[in-house]
Order: sequence, then C-alpha cells, then structure tokens
Amino acid sequence: MLENLISETLNHKKSDIAIWFLRQAGRHIPEYFEIRKKEKDFVNFCLNKDLIIESTYLPLKYYDLDAVIIFSDILMIPWAMNRNVAFTKDFGPSMDPMIPDDTRILKKISISSKLEPLKNSISYLRNKLPKSIALIGFAGAPWTLACYMIEGKGSKDFINTRRALWGSYKWFMELIETLIVYIADKLEMQARAGADVLMLFDSWSHMIPNNFFYDCAINPTARIIDILRSRKIFVPVIGFPFKAGSSIVRYSFESKVDCIALDWSVDLCWAVQNINKDIAIQGNLDPASLIPSHSDYLKENVLAILDIMKDKRFIFNVGHGLTPDCKIDNVKEVINIVRNHSRKI
Ligand code: CP3
Repeated sequence: MLENLISETLNHKKSDIAIWFLRQAGRHIPEYFEIRKKEKDFVNFCLNKDLIIESTYLPLKYYDLDAVIIFSDILMIPWAMNRNVAFTKDFGPSMDPMIPDDTRILKKISISSKLEPLKNSISYLRNKLPKSIALIGFAGAPWTLACYMIEGKGSKDFINTRRALWGSYKWFMELIETLIVYIADKLEMQARAGADVLMLFDSWSHMIPNNFFYDCAINPTARIIDILRSRKIFVPVIGFPFKAGSSIVRYSFESKVDCIALDWSVDLCWAVQNINKDIAIQGNLDPASLIPSHSDYLKENVLAILDIMKDKRFIFNVGHGLTPDCKIDNVKEVINIVRNHSRKI
C-alpha cells in the first residue's frame, strides 16, 4: 500500500508524470522580491503565516504544477534550538558554531510550539489548494543540519564537521540522534497539519566520508521514517541525498524513503538499473539549463529524461534548486513538454 502512495498523491489525472521544481518559490519569481521586502529578517519571514502562504502560492501564478513546497527553510530547526540563526545578504546563513562535547544541544525543545506559524500556514493552504495539487512539507536531514550547526555557516568542505565526526564520534552521533527527534517532530507536525508528502534535504551528503555514509545519512533517515510510521504518519517521504554518488544505491534500499530525488550528476540509465525498483524517482534536470534565454538542448534533454523514465514511477523535477537567474519562459517550456509528452503515452 505504502509504495503506491507517491503515485496516488502526485501522479494524478492531469498527466502521467507529476511535475514541480525544487526552490520554485523563492529566488527567481519577480514578485517574491516584493513579498520579501515586507519582512527584512528572513527568520521572521519564515515565521509569518501570511508571508509563508503568499510565497508558497506564488509559483502557481505562473506554472501548471502538481505540487507546491511549503515556504520555509531547513535552518528553522537550528533556529528553534536557539543556535542564533541569521541570514545575511550576500553571505548566506550563519549561526553560533558548535564545538564537540558541547552538551547544550541535548536540552529538550518543543518544535511544534516554536514553529506554529508553519503549522498554521499548512492547515490554511491545504484547505485552500485544489485537491489535485499536493502540498509538500520538508526538513533538512540530520547530517546537513549538523554541518551548518558545527561550522556555523556554509563551507566548501565542512572540514570542522568532518573533524568532529572522526574525533568525537560519540558526541557527533548524539547530535545526530537529537536532530532525528526534532526532524521527526517537525515532519509529523507538517503531516498532521495537512502536508501530503514530506521531503528530507541532505544537501551536503556528498561531504560524508564514505565509511560513515550509513551512520550519518541512511540510518538517520530510516530512523526518522520509523518514528513517523510509529506515530501513524503514513504520507510518502522523498529523500534527497545530494551528489552522494554510488552511495545512493544503498540509500535507496535501506533508508526507507518512498521516493529518491536525484541530482543532475546522476546518470538516469544507471540509476534505473541499480537503485531499488520499489521506490519512485524524482529528478533530475540540470537547473542551469533553464538560465539561457534560448537553449537548443533544453527540449532534447527533457525528452531524453522522459524517454528513460517512461513506464517508471517518476516525478519530473530539477536536480537541485532553481537559481535566481533561471528564466520563467524556460520553466514554462519544460512543463509544456512534460504535459504534452504525458498525454501522448
Ligand atoms: O522555493 C523555495 O525556495 C522553497 C523554500 C525553501 C527555502 N530554502 C527558502 C529560502 C527551501 C525548500 C529551502 C531549503 C534549503 N535551505 C536547503 C536545501 C535545498 C538546497 O538548496 O540544497 C538549504 C541547503 C538551505 C539553507 C539556506 N537557506 C541557504 C544556503 C540560504 C542562502 C542562499 C539561498 O538562497 O539558497 C538560505 C536562505 C533562503 N532559503 C532563501 C530562500 C528563498 C533566500 C533568502 C532571502 O530571500 O533573503
């Protein structure tokens, strides 16, 4: 039963292949920047019910999509954990860095009371949105949140995080364990409020030393899903082990996700041969192909993806988030190609 949920939820009447885009709301739609001006501080923006609703809706003004992702950020969990999270223009996110053996993380907090505006905006949106449009809730995966929490900011190699893993493994796993519970709480809250699908972003999974990939990515994901199922939350979960290379094979069999999101570097032919055939696939158009005002390869590339994925349970998406410079007309063209192609099958 569970394995059919992704297709039941997303593969509905409009076409055989469901389509939505990672980071479809913020960043490339002109009105987003107008809405964004209403609240200077990005954390407060993510805590404002009206602004969350407006931003989540925005892509539907332009695009014929099968799903919207609730407007929030993966770093709202570290914020709820009092890590002093801030978003600075041209710098990105920052927070108080953590040093190994810091035990303050173990203090229990209530995610659902801290993120109440998120819950309320999901309830509101699920009531207003047409039934045919799925509402996606999300969270960052434990490893990716630990990366930001230890480093205190973005990084090209997350060296302090990897040092902490090798040097203070027990403490590191306690941090992962704490995050597993908060992430499960946040996902449960979103599902109870009305999210139809949940997504776990492991955006820095390519930083995990290979021998720790099970401990830091696969097992924590499986544990989060076990907690959700034990709490009677049965909505499908999409996992996104970004750029994890061949480790995605084991991830697809053991993480318990219902759908695996693939980044643009993954060879789809290889993926359909090697990854768990019982789960759906989402992906994996390169978002950079949507930037030029004209690209001869765009249509060809979209059709190639559709061809490889025909007869498979597949959600069309980009292989990483849309960027601010991506062109609205190109996104529209991709949607048209997918819709027309689906109708022909
Ligand atoms: O369509 C959407 O944008 C949906 C909402 C959404 C945001 N962040 C809004 C946002 C989602 C799904 C995320 C997830 C997220 N946040 C990830 C995972 C996906 C990925 O890209 O790998 C990560 C790693 C983050 C952390 C984060 N938040 C960074 C690195 C930044 C700065 C640069 C940027 O824009 O990505 C943010 C800030 C942020 N999150 C913005 C938006 C729209 C820009 C802030 C602003 O408008 O001032």
